[in-house]
Amino acid sequence: MKKVEDYFVPWVKGIPMYISGHIELAWRKPELHRMMSNENPNPPSEKVLETIIKYAKMANRYPDQGLVVRGKIAEINGLEGADNVLLGNGSSEVYDNIFRIFLAPGEEVIQQTPCFGIYKLRGTILGGKMVSVPMIYKDKKILYDADGILKAITDKTKIIVVANPNNPTGNFMDAKDFVRIAETGIPFIVDEAYVEYAGLGMSQVNLTKKYKNVLVTRTLSKSYGLAGMRFGYALGDKEVIGQIAGALLPWNVGTIPMWAALAAFEDTEALAYRVKFNNSEVDFISEALSDVPGLVVFPSKANYILFDCGATGKKGKEMVAYAEEKGIILRPESEKYGSDGWFRITIGTKEENRMVIDVIREFLTKKK
Ligand SMILES: Cc1ncc(COP(=O)(O)O)c(C=O)c1O
Repeated sequence: MKKVEDYFVPWVKGIPMYISGHIELAWRKPELHRMMSNENPNPPSEKVLETIIKYAKMANRYPDQGLVVRGKIAEINGLEGADNVLLGNGSSEVYDNIFRIFLAPGEEVIQQTPCFGIYKLRGTILGGKMVSVPMIYKDKKILYDADGILKAITDKTKIIVVANPNNPTGNFMDAKDFVRIAETGIPFIVDEAYVEYAGLGMSQVNLTKKYKNVLVTRTLSKSYGLAGMRFGYALGDKEVIGQIAGALLPWNVGTIPMWAALAAFEDTEALAYRVKFNNSEVDFISEALSDVPGLVVFPSKANYILFDCGATGKKGKEMVAYAEEKGIILRPESEKYGSDGWFRITIGTKEENRMVIDVIREFLTKKK
């Protein structure tokens, strides 16, 4: 008799269970300061909380297809209607649903690295092959490499995914490069998880009207501050969205997140407050650390800042370990571009941000 392991599809064999260690740690030790997962330090607004409670009382009922909130999302983004919008349990689920429609085992997904890790997780689960095109690091600047993406295309390329702005680098790709990639006709996912921090004027959503192959993904986990609620969406052509929706798990988004999301979209004041708070703290931290010798601070249009401390003689991982001793969880980054000095911080509360500045300066300026 064969063992059950012999029945696993070959491409999932040996894939470890996804565990985000630092998030596990933060929930176990609430006294630690969570400055690692690009969460919002502000709790949900009163209006959102009231809606959560209102709909929690109706949790005995199945949710509908979210026509009201989808209509609202379409309206905010200048799209025709609810049929242009697909909902997911966070945008991570939205990629999964998109990937399922386009990708078969052995086919390729192009991503621009460094980038969000879930593209790879979802692509690999489907038997896809990730083709990573690195961004260019030159003169202390990190730049998108659209030429590199175009060159990496083969007849097996089924998806191209680019974040706008990118995590962890915090920058935007040039609008003309989005058009060049859209023109290939290959399904092109533009991940706009953080776009509200710079404003919807930076969104590439208008491309979805001209190019059926372009899909824009968004989330309420970042500027709206609802990461634990799990609500994400995709914007695109009706027919394409309809086809992807065909693969959705029925009731993939619950009643409470759908109506709370609507409340969040309507509470424009709460969003404006969170965006303003974040952007002024990004400026404050970037400025405060700009004079640490050997530290490269990357300009960010999101709720995190990337650093390279390689030239200080310290390693990024040592910086992260030191901060943890001081009660702050930061995000380590892999070695790249010949430097092991990378780390990323997420904007915290005012108090946390002042604390992290002191801890970073203290560690990076102290003699070994
Ligand atoms: C670029 C990017 N996209 C998407 C997400 C995930 O969003 P969600 O919480 O909606 O799954 C993240 C989270 O860190 C991210 O950095």
